[in-house]
Amino acid sequence: MALRLGDEAPNFTAESTEGTIHFHRWLGSSWGILFSHPADYTPVCTTELGTVAKLKDEFEKRDVKVVGLSVDPLEDHQGWIGDINETQNTTVNFPLLADADRTVAELYDMIHPNALDNMTVRSVFVIGPDKKIKLMLTYPASTGRNFDELLRVIDSLQLTANYSVATPANWQDGDDCIVTPALSDAQAQEKFPKGFTKIKPYLRTTPQPNK
Ligand code: BEZ
Repeated sequence: MALRLGDEAPNFTAESTEGTIHFHRWLGSSWGILFSHPADYTPVCTTELGTVAKLKDEFEKRDVKVVGLSVDPLEDHQGWIGDINETQNTTVNFPLLADADRTVAELYDMIHPNALDNMTVRSVFVIGPDKKIKLMLTYPASTGRNFDELLRVIDSLQLTANYSVATPANWQDGDDCIVTPALSDAQAQEKFPKGFTKIKPYLRTTPQPNK
């Protein structure tokens, strides 16, 4: 059955460029990103993996562990990482799963044969510390993903988890947030010492609580 938001992220054991990964154990109490790319030694993927490597500090700041995947063998990953490091001026600093038998790709429904034959599409799963899927996105092979957007979503998810706020369209770190409709005005007053603005009974904003 297809995975949905709120489902438990399927567990697996797989080989990676940083040794065997028992997924849930590897995640521990951190947030996680599992992302697939279509194939090693391909141009868009090369730029994506270089970009992820350069964002290491940003992922660490948010307590997010990142793991990539394609259905290529470990030897190919290892050779290609040399090319990524050379051409993207970085050092790949996160594990890449070698999913040649497609176990993980099938668990996460990452192969969409009508779009791309025998390869994973560009899937992303953001997983919370409770191991539940918080975000899924799927991009075609020809479009490299925007990893700054993924950081933005993780910031929003973490604000929701910690402060009972949602974030509006095009929200950026530092912008006002939305008071979740589940809170009454009295509860909102208590929860948000900086106060809130009531534009409509269902539309209330408050300064970003962790700033
Ligand atoms: C790429 O990463 O450039 C790519 C991979 C598979 C199909 C098309 C493009």
